[in-house]
Amino acid sequence: MLQIRVKPGIEDKIRGFFPWIYRPEIASYSRKPKKGELVVVRDFGGKFLGYGYINPEVSIAVRILSFDKTEPVTPELIKRRLLQAYNYRKRLYINSNAFRLVHSEGDLLPGLIVDVYGEYVVIEFTTFGMSMFRETVVDALLEILRPKGIYEKANLTARKVEGIEVEEGTVYGSVPEEVIIWEHDLKYVINIPQGQKTGFFLDQRNSRSFVRNLVEPGDRCLDVFCHTGGFALNMKKMGAEEVIAVDLSELALEVGRKNEELNGLSGIRWVNKNAFDYLKELDTMGEKFDVVVIDPPSFAKNRHAVPNALRGYKELCVRGLKLTKSGGYLAIFSCSFHITEQHLLEVLTKASYDVRRQVRVIAKTFQDKDHPWILQMPNTLYLKGVWVEVI
Ligand SMILES: C[S@@+](CC[C@H](N)C(=O)[O-])C[C@H]1O[C@@H](n2cnc3c(N)ncnc32)[C@H](O)[C@@H]1O
Repeated sequence: MLQIRVKPGIEDKIRGFFPWIYRPEIASYSRKPKKGELVVVRDFGGKFLGYGYINPEVSIAVRILSFDKTEPVTPELIKRRLLQAYNYRKRLYINSNAFRLVHSEGDLLPGLIVDVYGEYVVIEFTTFGMSMFRETVVDALLEILRPKGIYEKANLTARKVEGIEVEEGTVYGSVPEEVIIWEHDLKYVINIPQGQKTGFFLDQRNSRSFVRNLVEPGDRCLDVFCHTGGFALNMKKMGAEEVIAVDLSELALEVGRKNEELNGLSGIRWVNKNAFDYLKELDTMGEKFDVVVIDPPSFAKNRHAVPNALRGYKELCVRGLKLTKSGGYLAIFSCSFHITEQHLLEVLTKASYDVRRQVRVIAKTFQDKDHPWILQMPNTLYLKGVWVEVI
């Protein structure tokens, strides 16, 4: 097997269970590496550090799957990890038939996402190395879940960065274009082939549930970056009189309308506009809401994008605070690891000074429990939300 040695000093983070090795951190290769092949990682002096896979063409060149000398990366290890991931989910009380079964590094399977939508499964490979285990993954999923169909989504970033050639489509059985799942007491249409990500933002399940604590019958609510209406539907279900849901994707709103009908709800105003422009419009008109949820896409894919992203967040917080009634609630989320909880709190504080409103933090929420994160790898905690009462 290919062997690499890392530069002096790099071994510390690996011994601390950080599984990524950047290309410049590699001191030497035992031979010319091939994209996707397995590798033994050693410190500069030759001591064992871990087993992983390598893609010499990308910045994160090595991802370690095992820090244990007795546990090399084999199809059996992958199968065992999948089974462990499943057993963990079985213990959780997930109030839905849709859940994330494999959360990449969070389940010690870097480069693999597996989402379960009732009887259907969606897989996504985000690294070349993990895609080498496609057959093993599919076989294991068939054994563990016995699904009606498995669909492989192409991850566009992985395609571009890692050079994975994926023909997106059904890899087992048959998968209808639309699948209906339930979460809590609501049903959702999931458009697997055309939807964003694998079709649904499963990670916000607990926050969609949390918003129910804040909405009272007769309230006026706003769901910004609503996608297929996750928050809007919960607001309506709790008796909100008026709900406005805004998103740039017409397809997402179309599915949102279907969701509304499917649940016997009515009266959500679906707005197909750029959220930044729309919030400005609402603000200019002097509109006020009892509950406002702002759940934007990732504005910072890397650390260089952070200053711009923070400017975007500041604007969203200022508008959000202005649009929230006195005694009302505002939630703001970041789904980028680079925009931290601390960033959100700082931006909210600055925005509160700008608009002269006192705010009380009532809760913080994170990605739901089927998206576990590794303590020694902060990158795996990507989604955080701050909920405040605007006094
Ligand atoms: C993180 S998702 C929201 C998930 C949603 N809250 C849920 O629970 O399903 C972000 C959404 O923002 C939308 N979006 C991206 N840029 C936008 C923009 N400038 N204005 C409005 N919507 C936008 C995307 O289409 C996507 O649906």
